[in-house]
Amino acid sequence: MASPHHPEHQLRLGVNIDHVATIRNARGGDHPDPVKAALMAQAAGADGITAHLREDRRHIRDEDIARLMASLDLPLNLEMAATEEMVDIALRHRPHAACIVPERRAERTTEGGLDAAGQLAQLGPLIERLGAAGIRVSLFIEPAPAQIEAAMRLGAPVVEFHTGRYAHLEGIERATELQRITEMVALAARNGIEPHAGHGLTYDNVTAIAAIPQLRELNIGHFLIGEALFDGLTDAIQRMRLMMDVAR
Ligand code: PXP
Repeated sequence: MASPHHPEHQLRLGVNIDHVATIRNARGGDHPDPVKAALMAQAAGADGITAHLREDRRHIRDEDIARLMASLDLPLNLEMAATEEMVDIALRHRPHAACIVPERRAERTTEGGLDAAGQLAQLGPLIERLGAAGIRVSLFIEPAPAQIEAAMRLGAPVVEFHTGRYAHLEGIERATELQRITEMVALAARNGIEPHAGHGLTYDNVTAIAAIPQLRELNIGHFLIGEALFDGLTDAIQRMRLMMDVAR
């Protein structure tokens, strides 16, 4: 689906603003405001905003989701665990998209893809409820055929491939992982599933991922918010956007 704001972008950039909220929460007040960051990202050329409402509310909070929905023109991609609580929240706010992620309390960030293949029975009804409400469901999965097959069986219109392993590996191991992601993106697209990717992407590693022709969206957070400390959020987003465009 083309972005309503940048229909010319073959590869959309979703900016994840979670870590603006992480900094805010470090002092318990309301500064810096993730909604302000989302509006800046929108002005800087982001195609969408992504926010992960975690069970422990360690960064984004419920009221942030309400404020994002009220303030943004861009589509909101709500990352969420497959729980009743989160489905109720998604149905209440009706974001453009919901990305189902695995969630463990002790993890520092999402550490792996969702085991969609191992949870067909639990995920089925949940995806159906979200889909019936007009929310585009995506599954955050490892680049593996069994997970794509599960997404097909579940009727998920989108998958987001976890690029965390690719980002952390080096040399030949990274090249092998890149090959795996490239093949799985193509497999998803051939089967009518819109492929996205994200996690751990930076200026140094984004080019090879952005060059995968069937990919339609990248979701990038931690690196952009970190770079914003040095260059400002607008510059960081514009530079990433340019690198993605050049890679195509
Ligand atoms: N996509 C998903 C599904 C995620 O869970 C995250 C991290 O919250 C990202 C993308 C963005 O990863 P990063 O913050 O490393 O750019």
